[in-house]
Amino acid sequence: MLKITRSVVDAVKIPVTVKTRLGWDENNKIIVTLAEQLQDCGIAALAIHGRTRSQMYKGDADWTLIGEVKNNPRMHIPIIGNGDVTTPERAKECFERYGVDAVMIGRGAIGRPWIFEEINYFFENGERKAPYPFGWQVDILKEHVLRSIEWIGDERKGIVHSRRHLAATPVFKGIADFRQTRIAMLRAEMLDELFGIIDGVVAEHENSQK
Ligand SMILES: Cc1cc2nc3c(=O)[nH]c(=O)nc-3n(C[C@H](O)[C@H](O)[C@H](O)COP(=O)(O)O)c2cc1C
Repeated sequence: MLKITRSVVDAVKIPVTVKTRLGWDENNKIIVTLAEQLQDCGIAALAIHGRTRSQMYKGDADWTLIGEVKNNPRMHIPIIGNGDVTTPERAKECFERYGVDAVMIGRGAIGRPWIFEEINYFFENGERKAPYPFGWQVDILKEHVLRSIEWIGDERKGIVHSRRHLAATPVFKGIADFRQTRIAMLRAEMLDELFGIIDGVVAEHENSQK
């Protein structure tokens, strides 16, 4: 890993950053030493996911060692903490308790890309932003599907690619008897069908609010 990092740093003129985990497994959490060695390779910043490789996604992310890396007096590059940040409150706690320079968010943004704005709002105002209107959230999801299609250049593939977001989004949480609609939404392969289902959900939701 160090050899690869050194080679990349030497080969390019732009800043190189590394993202890695705590180590290979429970008995090899080498990140504190590894971070120093990576820094010595000349990287510009280090992102750390608070799990080991063998852990995959099991258990909670352990931020203690991320904090140790950050608080190591030998370290001077920015440290980006990662793992299980899904709320503005947790983001704040990670900054305050572990002193990291930034937090990185993965799964928390799936189906909820506005999480970054929510966190910024929380940091600036000390309280949560009022929930975004249902229709606004749905519009963002639809835009996401459209951009996915545009990016991939194929309607069906773009929809399949964005299914993960539709499946994980909190937007439809709490809607009564949503199961069948959800299944249909995640099976739809063409835009007309998918947006027809989603628009039906919005219409029903609006009716229920009257
Ligand atoms: C769909 C998906 C794709 C990912 N792709 C990468 C990747 O290409 N490189 C990487 O270092 N981590 C990747 N990860 C891991 C995340 O960057 C992150 O380290 C991990 O999900 C823990 O953060 P989280 O709890 O905020 O999700 C991916 C995660 C997900 C869910």
